[in-house]
Order: sequence, then structure tokens, then C-alpha cells
Amino acid sequence: MANAYLETMFSLSGKTAVVVGGTGVLGGALAEGLARAGAFVVVAGRGADRGQARVDAIRAAGGDGTFVSVDAIERESVKALLEATIHARGRADILVNCAGVNSSVPYFEIPDDDFAKVLDTNLKSTHIGCQVFGAHMASLGGGSILNIGSVSADKPLSKVFIYSASKAAVVNYTKNVARELAPKGVRVNVLCPGFFPAEQNRKILSPDRVATIMAKTPMNRFGNPEELLGAAILLCAPVAGSFITGAEVYVDGGFTGMSL
Ligand SMILES: NC(=O)c1ccc[n+]([C@@H]2O[C@H](COP(=O)([O-])OP(=O)(O)OC[C@H]3O[C@@H](n4cnc5c(N)ncnc54)[C@H](O)[C@@H]3O)[C@@H](O)[C@H]2O)c1
Repeated sequence: MANAYLETMFSLSGKTAVVVGGTGVLGGALAEGLARAGAFVVVAGRGADRGQARVDAIRAAGGDGTFVSVDAIERESVKALLEATIHARGRADILVNCAGVNSSVPYFEIPDDDFAKVLDTNLKSTHIGCQVFGAHMASLGGGSILNIGSVSADKPLSKVFIYSASKAAVVNYTKNVARELAPKGVRVNVLCPGFFPAEQNRKILSPDRVATIMAKTPMNRFGNPEELLGAAILLCAPVAGSFITGAEVYVDGGFTGMSL
């Protein structure tokens, strides 16, 4: 009884989900989680080996998916990803925009090319994904897009100026696109993780920095990527998430709730 109810609420069975940046630590966990919830998952990214390994893990766990190479900041590449998804599955129901990059350079030394790289990877890729897949989902009359923000969207983080600005922009952008696509049946939300050790933040997490983060994290630990899955599945699920759009959901061990 309870299982049948949960299945109705949260199942992604029959859905096709595309995870851009599914080659990364958080994107990979999200890809596996959506597959466990029943979706066929297109793992999309730049590293074919890592992407294929994630597809293999999905299949080993009883799910299904495929890898498609994409450069998330190139519109033609994202269009080709949509075409490949339609070719394989006929449609795309869910998009997760999880490509991202970080950079930590002293404020007066931030080079312009660093600015462009962080803004392009975090914001422009989100914009292109929302436009290309949003138009497709609108033509189907429904779908769900999940963008990835950060706690730095709410409170700017020292040392990562452009990264914080890009994530604040992703949250703002998500709400605007949610308004635009709501009449077409497409929901758009943003998941904001706290601190999860990954490739893009490895160099930034020095012992001093970790101590500062823990002092401001009531749960006093890093997140585990699997701990993003409950919120992600809720936001993507057509039944449980049916009235949720434009939402900014923090999964951060209490970090954004702290003021001192
Ligand atoms: N790890 C954290 O603590 C944390 C916290 C908040 C937000 N985030 C966000 O989560 C997302 C995933 O980051 P992660 O921590 O898993 O890092 P990660 O470095 O493990 O993953 C990022 C992935 O994005 C891919 N990518 C970068 N540029 C790309 C492009 N142009 N085209 C295609 N793929 C591209 C990389 O190849 C990599 O696989 C990012 O948006 C990041 O900002 C992470």
C-alpha cells in the first residue's frame, strides 16, 4: 500500500532524463538517482570514459541509460544532444543542467578569461539548456528542468567572486524562465547544494577553509552526493512535484540558515 502510493508520487518510470554534466560528481549521482527512480537517463558531458562508467553503473543497478558527448556552452552541441535523445527515446521529459566550474583567484587578479569561463559554464550553459530543451518540452506540453545553484547564490562566498555571482544569476534566471514556461506545462526549479567535495572545488577546500565552512554548517559535515537525490526526484517528479516551479531548494546541512 505505502509502496504503491510512493510509486505514484515519485516514480519517473517511462520518463527520459538528460543530465548535462552527468560526468561529474554531483551530476553523476543525480543521473544514478533519476535512473533508480525509473527514468532512462542520458548522461551528457565531455569525458566519454567517465560518462560511460556512469552508464555502466546505472545498468549494473538495474536501470538504463546512454552516454552522449556534449559541450554545454555550445548551442549546436546542445541541439545535437536533444536530437540524439529524440533519436534514442522519442522525447526528453527531464533536463538537469549540472555542468559547472569554479575558480578561486584573489579579487584584483581575476583574469577576464576566468570570468568568461565561469559565467559561460555555469550560466550560459543553463540558459542554452533551458532554451533548447524548454522549447522541446513546451512542444510536448510538459516537462521538468532542474538547474543547479549553490549556497553562494544566497550569500556570496569569499574567494569565489565570479562563481558566486554566476550562481546568484542561475537562481534569478530559473525563476524568470519558470514564469515563462509555466503556461506551457514546463516546470523549472533550482537545487542549491551546500558543500560536497568534488573535482571543481578540490583546490579550494584547504584545511582553513574547511574549518570555516564547518563552523557555519549546523550539521558540521560535508554533504554526500546521494543526499541531493530526495529533493531532486521530488522536483523532477510529475506527480509529487506537479505544483512546484520557480522554487529554490537548499540541501546544505543548515548552512544558509546561519547568520553567525
Ligand atoms: N560540489 C559542491 O559542493 C557543489 C556545491 C554547490 C553547487 N555545485 C554545483 O554542482 C554542479 C556540479 O559540480 P560538481 O561539484 O559535481 O563538480 P564536478 O567538477 O565533479 O562536475 C562538473 C562537471 O561539469 C562538466 N562540465 C564543465 N564544463 C562543461 C561543458 N562546457 N560541457 C559539458 N560538461 C561540462 C565537467 O566535465 C564535470 O564533469 C556545478 O554546477 C557546481 O557549481 C557543487
